[in-house]
Amino acid sequence: MSLLDIRNIHKTYDNGEEVLKNVNVQIESKECLGLIGESGCGKSTLARCILQIEPIDRGSILFKGTALHNKSERLLKPYRKNIQAVLQNPASALNPKLKIKESLIDPFQQYGSQIDMKHFTYPSERGFIGQLLEMVELPSNLADRYPHELSGGQKQRVTIARAVSIEPSLLILDEPASSLDVLSQASLLTLLEELRERLDMSYLFISHDLSAVQEMCQRIMVMKRGEIVDSFEKERLFCEERHSYTKELLSLFE
Ligand SMILES: Nc1ncnc2c1ncn2[C@@H]1O[C@H](COP(=O)(O)OP(=O)(O)OP(=O)(O)O)[C@@H](O)[C@H]1O
Ligand SMILES: [Mg+2]
Repeated sequence: MSLLDIRNIHKTYDNGEEVLKNVNVQIESKECLGLIGESGCGKSTLARCILQIEPIDRGSILFKGTALHNKSERLLKPYRKNIQAVLQNPASALNPKLKIKESLIDPFQQYGSQIDMKHFTYPSERGFIGQLLEMVELPSNLADRYPHELSGGQKQRVTIARAVSIEPSLLILDEPASSLDVLSQASLLTLLEELRERLDMSYLFISHDLSAVQEMCQRIMVMKRGEIVDSFEKERLFCEERHSYTKELLSLFE
C-alpha cells in the first residue's frame, strides 16, 4: 500500500477553471517524489488539495489506505499531523508577532498528545527547541528573536524545523528554496536530504528547477496544464521514451 495514493482527482476553482485534470500520484514510504512543470500548471493547487486546504471536485486521496477528502476536521487531525508542508513563501509562513521559539513549539502543543516521538526528546521546552534549531543548523540564540530579525534562509530553516518537529511521514516541499540565493539553495537542499534520511520521511518535492529535482528525487512527475504527462525513475530522465514536453523542459536547462 502506498503512503499517499491520489486517484483521478479533478479540481475546479470558483471561476470555473479546471486546474487539475484526472491527476494520479502515488508516493511510497521514505521516497522523494519530484513534481515539475511550468508556472501556473497546478503544482501548488495539488499540494493544497493533499493538505485538505482546498476541496477536490472528484477522485480520491488516500493516506495509508484511508480517504482524507470529505472528512470532518476532527477526523482529519491525526492525518494533518502526518502530512506537513513547507510552502512557497517563507515570509508569510511565520507569524510576525511570535518569537521563533513560540512558532517552533506551536505544532508540538497542538499535536503533542498524538506523537509517538521516535527521533526527538522533550526534556523541557527549551531542550526541545534547542534540538530543533541544532537539527537545521541554526544557533540557539535565534529562539528569542522575531521573524523580521532573521534572513530568508534562516526563516526557511525555522519553517522546516517546525514542520518536522511532530515527525510527519510526508513533507510537502513547494519550491522550498526558490526565494534564496544559489549557495543558500544548495545548502538548504543538502539539509533537506539529510533530514529525510534521518527522520524516515517521504517528500513531495515541487520545483521549477530540474537539476534540484534530479538531485533530490528518486522519481519525477511532469505536469502540464493540470495533467501529469510523464512519470519516470530519475535515471531515465534522458531516455528517448520521455514525453515531448519533458524534453522541452530539459532543453531549457541545457
Ligand atoms: N485560489 C485560487 N482561485 C482561483 N484560481 C486559482 C487560485 N489559485 C490558483 N489559481 C489558478 O490555478 C492555476 C494553477 O495555479 P498554481 O498556483 O497551482 O500553479 P503552480 O504550478 O503552483 O505555479 P507556480 O510554479 O508559479 O507556483 C493558475 O492558473 C492560477 O491562476
Ligand atoms: Mg506554486
